[in-house]
Amino acid sequence: MNFRNYTEADAERLAGVFTSSVHSLATAEYDARQRDAWAPIPPDLDAWRHRLGQLHTIIAEENGQCLGFLSYEPDGHIELLYTAPDAARKGVASALLEEAARQLSEGFGVTDLYTEASLVAAPFFLRHGFDTIEEQTVSRNGVNFRRFAMQRTL
Ligand SMILES: CC(C)(COP(=O)(O)OP(=O)(O)OC[C@H]1O[C@@H](n2cnc3c(N)ncnc32)[C@H](O)[C@@H]1OP(=O)(O)O)[C@@H](O)C(=O)NCCC(=O)NCCS
Repeated sequence: MNFRNYTEADAERLAGVFTSSVHSLATAEYDARQRDAWAPIPPDLDAWRHRLGQLHTIIAEENGQCLGFLSYEPDGHIELLYTAPDAARKGVASALLEEAARQLSEGFGVTDLYTEASLVAAPFFLRHGFDTIEEQTVSRNGVNFRRFAMQRTL
């Protein structure tokens, strides 16, 4: 597995990974209506280009295939973390988080990471030393979602 930085040419591929990840890996925790609101099909590529253009994104690849990606903000906010369904539970997200922590610490002097974890991702973040700050309910496209605000000191 190797890492590289996002360029605008990646937007469509990452939107695809995001969409398939939500619709495959989040089925146990979120019903079809929630998944459709979270990850509409087809994805809005203009919105993705805009969103990814404002974030720092690391892509994990192997043999030219995108295994997953992580997007962060320079203050330590982990905004997006999605593994491709075929690559799940193989350490991809763990490797991305470790690389993001390194970049944030060395490049931006960050000492704390924080995120809003889905019910699917919360066990992953707990495993990586994050603490739960609070449970939240947010509305996306008119549908409610439970999630957890979580934080970890580096
Ligand atoms: C959450 C997610 C990013 C984890 O990616 P991953 O590459 O499979 O994670 P890793 O292989 O690095 O997992 C490391 C450890 O985290 C924990 N973990 C990961 N996914 C888990 C799950 N679904 N349930 C329980 N524990 C989990 C396990 O302890 C795992 O170690 P193990 O496989 O040896 O048991 C992935 O499931 C995903 O993309 N989910 C759908 C979208 C989503 O919710 N993204 C996060 C938005 S906040």
